Amino acid sequence: MIVIATQLPELRARIGQWRREGKRVGFVPTMGNLHAGHYALIALARQHADCVVASIFVNPTQFGPNEDFGRYPRTPESDQEGLASAGCDLVWMPSVETMYPHGVDATVRVSVPIITDMLEGASRPGHFDGVATVVAKLFNQVQPDIAVFGRKDYQQLAVVRYLVGDMGLPVEIIAGETLREADGLAMSSRNQYLSTNERPTAATIHRTLQQMRSQTLAGNARLDVERAASQVLRDAGFIVDYAVVRRPDLSDPEWGEGGPQVALIAARLGRTRLIDNIAFDPGNWPLAE
Ligand code: PAJ
Repeated sequence: MIVIATQLPELRARIGQWRREGKRVGFVPTMGNLHAGHYALIALARQHADCVVASIFVNPTQFGPNEDFGRYPRTPESDQEGLASAGCDLVWMPSVETMYPHGVDATVRVSVPIITDMLEGASRPGHFDGVATVVAKLFNQVQPDIAVFGRKDYQQLAVVRYLVGDMGLPVEIIAGETLREADGLAMSSRNQYLSTNERPTAATIHRTLQQMRSQTLAGNARLDVERAASQVLRDAGFIVDYAVVRRPDLSDPEWGEGGPQVALIAARLGRTRLIDNIAFDPGNWPLAE
């Protein structure tokens, strides 16, 4: 039977009991409106832990003033049912007051430097401070042994790893693969903002990422690959925030550099902002003999 906790003392009592029994606690933080991608993270957490906690909290501090905090889909009943079937033991559903007892403007803030200035951070100022702050709070509340984050939010995963490494937090971060619809569109709670006309177009993002990968593997210059990708997206009707090829740590690769890379896209279609990425390894072309 899945347990729903909305107050800290209850959460602590349940998790404290598991700890006394010597159980390993796994954690999957979410903002709810769950889909198969989230449930796959629960299953992954189960593989690494004896008990799995999921949180559902639409975090106000990671939304900009003109973003979708107000209309972000909230579906707690179906989320709870889905979590129970996915093998989750406990759902942590705090109120805004529990997460921000002094109010959102007077909260202690956690700010991760450098990797937060670019890409999502440049398009959404303050976003990653909100994410780092809420993730730090959630880790303190749940005190998990392991926590699972999706590769879909590639930069968020990097920010969380930086946070954990820098602060010496005693939690192991595990990455889950991106689950996609049949046409390649990455599953996302925001996909439901898409109109029926926009929905097929949205798959252009994944196709463009695949093109960026094959063009890079064929030895095309990074800037040409990026320019071509932006053009494809604009032609399909997107407003492009970025379409880039980066090293796994998000720094710029040199021309012809070997080793793993990642192509990342953020683009808006109508009023829906979508992000996705694809990781690949170009080997050592063209420098290798
Ligand atoms: P949310 O967007 O609900 O995502 C929760 C987790 O699910 C994140 O780790 C995200 O990367 C992962 N996820 C989303 N779509 C996925 C997909 N198609 N396949 C696999 N995993 C996917 O990310 C957040 O919430 C918040 O920023 C949070 C970390 C909870 C902090 O508020």
